[in-house]
Amino acid sequence: MDLLIKGGTIVTAEKSTGMDIRIEGDKITELGCNLPVKGEKVIDATGKLIFPGFIDTHTHFDLDAGDFFTADDFESGTKAALVGGTTMVLDFATQNRGETLKEALLNWHKKAEGNSSCHYGFHMSISDWNEITKRELKEMTAAGVTSYKLYMAYDNLKVHAGIMYEILKAVKEEGGIIGVHCENGDLVNTLIREQKALGHLSPKWHPISRPAEVEAEAVNQLLTVAKLAEAPVNIVHLSTKKGYQVVEAARATGQQVFVETCPQYLLMEDSRYELDGFESAKYVLSPPLRKKEDIECLWKAWKDDKIDTIGTDHCSFHYKGQKDRGIHDFSKIPNGIPGVEHRPALLYTYGVTEQKITAEQFCAALSTNPAKLFGMYPQKGAIEVGSDADLVIWDPEYRGIITAGEQLQKADYTPYEGFAVTGRADKVLLQGKVAADQGKVTIEKAGRYVHRGPCQKTGLKVE
Ligand code: URP
Ligand code: ZN
Ligand code: ZN
Repeated sequence: MDLLIKGGTIVTAEKSTGMDIRIEGDKITELGCNLPVKGEKVIDATGKLIFPGFIDTHTHFDLDAGDFFTADDFESGTKAALVGGTTMVLDFATQNRGETLKEALLNWHKKAEGNSSCHYGFHMSISDWNEITKRELKEMTAAGVTSYKLYMAYDNLKVHAGIMYEILKAVKEEGGIIGVHCENGDLVNTLIREQKALGHLSPKWHPISRPAEVEAEAVNQLLTVAKLAEAPVNIVHLSTKKGYQVVEAARATGQQVFVETCPQYLLMEDSRYELDGFESAKYVLSPPLRKKEDIECLWKAWKDDKIDTIGTDHCSFHYKGQKDRGIHDFSKIPNGIPGVEHRPALLYTYGVTEQKITAEQFCAALSTNPAKLFGMYPQKGAIEVGSDADLVIWDPEYRGIITAGEQLQKADYTPYEGFAVTGRADKVLLQGKVAADQGKVTIEKAGRYVHRGPCQKTGLKVE
């Protein structure tokens, strides 16, 4: 059944305009004021905002953490995403050492296909760079994978500077982009050993082993390498003012650096690590939560259009039965937190309604910039004739409280427990059909793989 959305305010990265939207099949076919009804179903969006579907640039669903997998797989993770207004996730397909990229991609397709309630694509994490991997980049491009992740931390994944240089050059040739986890892993390992030798074993020592300098040093190393390689680069989950200052210094010399940050680095301070006993394990992720001055710096950067994308880094583990693997040793706590369900409502509340950013900037970082940077604009990230009808009809008047008891995310807690929210996804359209309605999934498992093209590195507000 075709749809006509009437009376809403369309919000894009550029402007907000009162306009109706006609949808035929899975595409937007007409935009205009007072569009005539031609027998299709009408949705009254009076008083609502309409955004292009939100894209979460950073999820880890169904990830093997050694003794167990993440709490959320594609089935639960994408349902949670959808009810919150996220119509597409970019998950990290991860190449284990000894594997080809093709094998890793196939693994991730198997996890996602037929299980996903929102659309999905994959970044490819490279951990084993060799002649075969290098040749496989072309196959990745042909398979619609045009973005990659490299880790500077985690012994099983990390790549060193010389290898980063080679990969940056090779991916640039392919028209792709690399996102990098910036923490100096050698330093982290030493700092963890140091804390443990002092008998410091509770979660509160986790952030002490990963101070801001560890991120800033890694950002500096990465940007030095990227400059030599003459390649653009995306810094994922940037968390510190020190790291951001390094980015700004590089940008001032003309280097092309994109930045992703996450809701947790905008909304929660490191005082969470002072919680009693093991409670603070709920906030063990890498990089860790930071200080007030870091949070203020990141909000200001977003306000100044210097943050390109906001992903959640959703990597969820149960508090009971998973996080407690590290009850006697913080370094064994699986790293990561849930967030895919609540990103839009949290950032609308604490960003837009508190006037730290505009609704258009919110749209840019959660939808339009991800679509551009990751090669799917204007199919995604836009409300234009011909764009996919993945839309969020947003109720700005809704008031609620986030609580684990009501979430669709499978983890047995949420780090945002008790956060008040203003605004939520009232209806979420996936390829022209209402797939979520007032917090409930109405169409399951209709998500499709999105085959992406070359990454657009100009024309984002931030260069
Ligand atoms: O703690 C985190 N962020 N875990 C997920 C993996 C990563 O580094 O992105
Ligand atoms: Zn990471
Ligand atoms: Zn991550």
